[in-house]
Amino acid sequence: MNVRIASQRPIGVFDSGVGGLTVLRALRRRFPGESFLYLGDTARLPYGTKSAATVQRYALNAARHLEEHGVRLLVVACNTASSYALPELAAASSVPVVGVVEPGVRAALALGVRRIGVLGTEGTIRSGSYQSTLAALDGRPEVRAAACPLFVPLAEEGWGDHPVTDQVARHYLAPLLRWRVQALILGCTHYPLLRPSLERVAGPDVHLVDSASAVADAVAASFGDTESAGSGEVHIHLTDASDHFLRVARMILEAPPGHLEVVTLPQA
Ligand code: DGL
Repeated sequence: MNVRIASQRPIGVFDSGVGGLTVLRALRRRFPGESFLYLGDTARLPYGTKSAATVQRYALNAARHLEEHGVRLLVVACNTASSYALPELAAASSVPVVGVVEPGVRAALALGVRRIGVLGTEGTIRSGSYQSTLAALDGRPEVRAAACPLFVPLAEEGWGDHPVTDQVARHYLAPLLRWRVQALILGCTHYPLLRPSLERVAGPDVHLVDSASAVADAVAASFGDTESAGSGEVHIHLTDASDHFLRVARMILEAPPGHLEVVTLPQA
């Protein structure tokens, strides 16, 4: 008989800042009874322009903080941290760790297309994480990648449906569109917020792959025999609470974020 054990411990979700709330939003829709503890390392973002060693150190600090606060699972919502630090996080954590790269790759492969493009921060693209995961899971599709450093500030400005974003997207996507890309993986927490502009520029024949719901599938798989008995509450820990965070958080969650606390992370 399959014995199910209820857990009241929250799911930990970690991002460099506010963008990971797009992943939290998908997780809450999928698991409304779960409690969540979201950590945004807002004092040290962006991660996307930093070296692998620095991102690894920051991510380990964040994971330790969430473990000390009793999470039963760690979702690394930040693509840059997933790209640079997932093995280190898995080795250092006593709870299961779920990153965003493999779920995003699986969602793209499920489309059965032959030409896949990856959009991400400089760090994510430089790490080659999406390219190598795609090659490891299915060597058939061709893959090309583009770093899109201006997308994060445009998303944070709330310009997801804006002529300036269209123009920037045309610049970044031009080589991929010339190559007749069939699916674009949105390999950054912020890019789902740019969907209206990206859809317009990419056109109706290109699939936009947002890994958030694929991450929810991966979380469901890692639950195993543990089911939820949480309160459904969301607690948000930030390393810096600025008006900026609150404004963008409200935009993503479509509600003011509750239970907010400023924290200092343990150093590795
Ligand atoms: N969260 C980061 C990511 O998904 C984007 C923002 C940053 O550069 O810190 O890669």
